[in-house]
Amino acid sequence: MDMIYAFLNQKGGVGKTTLSIHTAAELTRRKRRVLLIDADPQGSALAWSNCRETPDFTVVGMAKSSLHKEIQQLASAYDDVIIDGPPRVTELARSILLAADLVVIPLQPSPMDVWAAAETIDLIREAQLYKPDLRCVLAINRKIANTAIGRDVREVLTELDVPIMKSDIGQRVAFAESAASGGTVARGKAAKEIKKFVDELRRIK
Ligand SMILES: Nc1ncnc2c1ncn2[C@@H]1O[C@H](COP(=O)(O)OP(=O)(O)OP(=O)(O)O)[C@@H](O)[C@H]1O
Ligand SMILES: [Mg+2]
Repeated sequence: MDMIYAFLNQKGGVGKTTLSIHTAAELTRRKRRVLLIDADPQGSALAWSNCRETPDFTVVGMAKSSLHKEIQQLASAYDDVIIDGPPRVTELARSILLAADLVVIPLQPSPMDVWAAAETIDLIREAQLYKPDLRCVLAINRKIANTAIGRDVREVLTELDVPIMKSDIGQRVAFAESAASGGTVARGKAAKEIKKFVDELRRIK
């Protein structure tokens, strides 16, 4: 196993599940053996995988705070592991941080999301006391092209003192539509964004 990516943000609805599923699908297209762990008691990624027609990567549910103890055994047969984190549940978030190599914090370009991210970053800082190698990045999701808020959010985010991914993900209905049918976006602008996003993720070592 090479990498454990965790998509985490204590705030709900920021795109953890959407980006987890799309990252897993894109890595699978690149012939990586991918395990997606749904660590959210709501089970959204599992529900999505249950309506898939072609299961091309494995999805398991594990929303418990012993996740970090069980993950090594579970992950040994895979190249990459993606953890789709829950909103709010702090105990579970701590366990995910113990398991992860790289934490991706999705957030939308709004002041509320910037403030909320600080809470997740505090948890990461706490985990880094024990795991100095734990890396984290902010990922802007649902950016609306050519808006002031889309541009300004980067400046505000620098205050959080966490690297920000260069590849933003735009507000695109294709993400929601593809999920509804148990799929992922495979072409068009949304797919291009995901490819760039995964390229950048893989460069973080
Ligand atoms: N880039 C995007 N463009 C359009 N819609 C999006 C985008 N990202 C996410 N969404 C939509 O926003 C909603 C919330 O996204 P998602 O479920 O991925 O967030 P989440 O962080 O996993 O939420 P929760 O905290 O409840 O688990 C979904 O309806 C999803 O389809
Ligand atoms: Mg989710």
